[in-house]
Amino acid sequence: MTRIDGLRAALADPRRNPAARGEPDTRAAWDQIAPGYDRTNTPTQMRIAGEGLGNAGIRSGMRFLDVAAGSGALSIPAARLGARVMAIDQSPVMLELLATRARKEGLNVETRVMDGHALQFDDDTFDLAGSQFGVMLFPDVSRAIREMVRVIKPGGRVLIHAYGDRHKIEFLSFLVAAVQSVRPDFDGPPADPPPLEFQLADPDRLRRELSAAGLKDVKVETLTETTEHETGEDLWEWLVWSNPIVERILRAMLNLTDDERGVVRQTLDKLVRERASGTRAAGLTNPVNIGIGAKVTGLIASSRCSAAAQQAFAGNEGTARDQDTPARRAAPSRLKRGASGGTRSEA
Ligand SMILES: C[S@@+](CC[C@H](N)C(=O)[O-])C[C@H]1O[C@@H](n2cnc3c(N)ncnc32)[C@H](O)[C@@H]1O
Repeated sequence: MTRIDGLRAALADPRRNPAARGEPDTRAAWDQIAPGYDRTNTPTQMRIAGEGLGNAGIRSGMRFLDVAAGSGALSIPAARLGARVMAIDQSPVMLELLATRARKEGLNVETRVMDGHALQFDDDTFDLAGSQFGVMLFPDVSRAIREMVRVIKPGGRVLIHAYGDRHKIEFLSFLVAAVQSVRPDFDGPPADPPPLEFQLADPDRLRRELSAAGLKDVKVETLTETTEHETGEDLWEWLVWSNPIVERILRAMLNLTDDERGVVRQTLDKLVRERASGTRAAGLTNPVNIGIGAKVTGLIASSRCSAAAQQAFAGNEGTARDQDTPARRAAPSRLKRGASGGTRSEA
């Protein structure tokens, strides 16, 4: 039995199977797009990872848990900074790609297939638990964050990266404009309710979720990330491999023909050229909410603790670490703090 067969067998266990608990099962869809995601999105998303890791106070030697790690956009930068990384994801294909990246660089990263709603780790195991564009799309965000809190040590931190206001996400508005060239009435993904992908788009909601999970010193900051695309084809590839939802919209919802997809790609190319206006690449900006909170020293493992008790403990002391870290200093210049109407909120 190969390693992947073994992991698939483990996931057949109903206790670890989201569908068995009545939640949508997206594992096959993420497995399918994993190689494309790894090629197009993972390198881009490593840029913002450094900023969040720096703000969360990552240090060499720390035990870091990456929840919904994909192929390593957060794990690899953490490991490069000397953290001992445990990367979990529901998709074994993503984790194989992550392991390949880690091996190539000789980095300290362990991978395990796991549902992020039910972490298979003891309480108080990690110094820092992070999730970049992962927990934001889980059906039960609150439970996933509580699990992250449970497995970090008292004084440890939780870090969440989630897309902000979807009306300011330019990769989305470019896609919508391109699709409108064949479906003029299309005005984007459903708004009511919005897709799970945008459930943490409101920085206040993210702040509330972190506080409700028992974290203290909660800070949410909205940064503007810029992704660069030299051609429309490059942006098209980046989009269709970014999330299974894109193909669900293009195929299942809009039923675009191959000819129509061709027109959409041509329009995207025109839009990218216009934005680049003679420069090498078009820069598209996206707000990203970065939320961080600290586990109170002496906090009872949240899965075993009532909400009221957690609120009571949340009033206790937390830790605050300094901000000038190697990750922060190495953060790319293509990030703007609080730009484009970005917000900063604290609790
Ligand atoms: C947009 S990707 C983010 C990957 C990576 N963190 C990054 O920043 O590029 C979302 C990832 O969440 C994973 N995922 C979704 N639901 C999950 C769940 N319930 N448990 C574990 N992983 C999950 C998917 O398999 C996918 O790899």
